[in-house]
Amino acid sequence: MPLTLMSGCATGIGAATRQALEAAGHQIIGIDIRDAEIVADLSTSAGRQQALHEALARCGGRLDGLVLCAGLGPQTPDVGKVVSVNYFGAVELLDGLLPALQRGTAPAAVVISSVASAHLLWDKNPLAQALEGGDEAQAQAIVRGAGEHGGNLAYAGSKNALTVAVRKRAGSWGQAGVRLNTVAPGATETPLLQAGLQDPRFGESIAKFVPPLGRRAEPAEMASVITFLMGSGASYVHGAQICIDGGIDAQMRPTQF
Ligand code: NAI
Repeated sequence: MPLTLMSGCATGIGAATRQALEAAGHQIIGIDIRDAEIVADLSTSAGRQQALHEALARCGGRLDGLVLCAGLGPQTPDVGKVVSVNYFGAVELLDGLLPALQRGTAPAAVVISSVASAHLLWDKNPLAQALEGGDEAQAQAIVRGAGEHGGNLAYAGSKNALTVAVRKRAGSWGQAGVRLNTVAPGATETPLLQAGLQDPRFGESIAKFVPPLGRRAEPAEMASVITFLMGSGASYVHGAQICIDGGIDAQMRPTQF
């Protein structure tokens, strides 16, 4: 039975993915700010260290899988927390857990990015240097100082940097024998999306964000692709970002891929 660690498994895409992975035979250790085996706050360095410490103790230093779903949306009141959870809450777990994954059987990891990762490209991402350099305080200061644009900047900037961080690790993780991919969901019916729709600053633009398939996704439609990427059917998929977005990325950026 594969032993898989997950973050953000309490609600939404993470909860659906936990259910799908368990149905596929995975034993799950969850990390979340609530309702998980390991309760930890990934928005702080201390919380991330606690999560790592408890995770390594629980798995005995050996893991077969890792799925990182924890994230905050652009409507989060403290936009500084968005960069902390979305970027550092994923990258620090990736780096801290690679040795345990190397000891696993057919190990694989999937990180949940977003279609928003392509809305702000790396060479124009004002957060790129601070995030890649590990300067959390500087990244928080940039988004907190960005006024009404802070939420979108924190969300798109952190997701762009997260996808880049995964792609930059494709070489070393591949050599370590651990497959690593991202998925880029489009609008998915979860508490995060509902909070965005109810926010007067973001509601209208999110509601207008209708993909070619003409509807928003259900969390289970993310979970099924993530479960595939974690399994032997995806044994040669590595360093990829899979859009699960009803076609919106292709519609918005047909010539860029
Ligand atoms: P959600 O709000 O239902 O789930 C997020 C999970 O992260 C929750 O279980 C929450 O408790 C956990 N979390 C939040 N802050 C945390 C913290 N400080 N420490 C530990 N855990 C924390 O949202 P959803 O939509 O399921 O999001 C999952 C991932 O999918 C996120 O990374 C999000 O950015 C991404 N995504 C979601 C889209 C959508 O339309 N719902 C679209 C694109 C990406």
